[in-house]
Amino acid sequence: MELADRSTMDAERLIEAARNALENAHVPYSGYTVGAALQTADGTVYTGCNIENANYSNSLHAEEVAIAEAVKNGHEAFDRIAVTSGVKDGVTPCGMCRQTLAEFCDDDLAIVCDEGADGMTTYTLGELLPNTISADTLSAAERR
Ligand code: THU
Ligand code: ZN
Repeated sequence: MELADRSTMDAERLIEAARNALENAHVPYSGYTVGAALQTADGTVYTGCNIENANYSNSLHAEEVAIAEAVKNGHEAFDRIAVTSGVKDGVTPCGMCRQTLAEFCDDDLAIVCDEGADGMTTYTLGELLPNTISADTLSAAERR
């Protein structure tokens, strides 16, 4: 099997895991379910769903929940994340989630966004969050 075919298969499997995860979303306020599936460098997959709160600001995003689950289990190297919503509208991680991904991932992290019957769009983190603040920014500032 071609490497490219295998990569598509992996992406589809990851989208499937994200779709399963959104079944547990707690969204009494927006009604907008989101699921995320994060693949670690060793191939393990951690999933998350959005969990809303009556004060709104305590709401957790699906990507945050998946990242927290992975990091809690000792993983800090990631290859790919799939994101989906209940309406499969190609939702991408919001700005906050992009920054949280940037804490652990390089610009080449693949972000696969589910478009349902229309397929999927894959972005890199660098495309979605160019010129971000990082640990390097802080250490460079210390040297000035
Ligand atoms: N949401 C996520 O879970 N991930 C994102 O990055 C975008 C937004 C959730 C938060 C809220 O529960 C709902 O989608 C509507 O914004
Ligand atoms: Zn977010």
